[in-house]
Amino acid sequence: MATPHIAAEKGDFAKTVLMPGDPLRAKFIAENFLENAVLVNNVRGIQGYTGEYRGKKVSVMASGMGMPSISIYAYELYNFFGVENIIRVGTAGGMNKDVHLRDIVLGQGACTDTNFALQYGLNGNLCPIADFSLLKKAYDIGNEMGLSIHVGNLYSTDVFYNDDSTNTEKWSKLGVLAVEMEAAALYMTAQRFGKKALAICTVSDHLLTGESTSAEERQTTFTDMMKLALEVALTSSFSEKKK
Ligand code: HPA
Repeated sequence: MATPHIAAEKGDFAKTVLMPGDPLRAKFIAENFLENAVLVNNVRGIQGYTGEYRGKKVSVMASGMGMPSISIYAYELYNFFGVENIIRVGTAGGMNKDVHLRDIVLGQGACTDTNFALQYGLNGNLCPIADFSLLKKAYDIGNEMGLSIHVGNLYSTDVFYNDDSTNTEKWSKLGVLAVEMEAAALYMTAQRFGKKALAICTVSDHLLTGESTSAEERQTTFTDMMKLALEVALTSSFSEKKK
């Protein structure tokens, strides 16, 4: 069974899919963290792998960049491949003075400048929020791992190079922790179809201080974030089995 963007069979994906933006990251996760990983999708180079982590079936597939891209993969995985949980594992730009380079931000909510929710025809604004069970598990496990974790609002933007130089400051003033480009559409897609989603982001650069991480630092922090996401995936597949 193939969808327009995923050439795989229904059973090819686990209930939980970890979703980095970059296809090479998906490959890295499969090669370094999963056992018996098999490539299940490679349409447009969006590599998807399914393997085992500590004996549990887990998948990892890239989202590409931006909300149109992640929403396509989330829609198809949730609706056609039996996926229940999508955990985005990405990078974000820090927008708050208490959030530092290499910290982890769990997106409790995702503010956005996208018009993605117009399709729902609401007479107000939808709040894109994380699934609380995934959020709580990530927070608890991350703290046990000794990671520096923040929970709060992300800002999911359609615009990387914003023409308005005051944009960051305006969102920052409202307590937003970090900016990225995918979480809001992932959350809305999960909400629409009664599925679960969480965005876990490491702070790769800081918009208030101008600092950024080296490639090596990004690799280390990415590894911590992956371990966290995989541990969350483990616990969520346990709870699915109990149902
Ligand atoms: N803007 C948008 N997305 C990002 C950024 C940023 O500065 N850093 C990491 N992801």
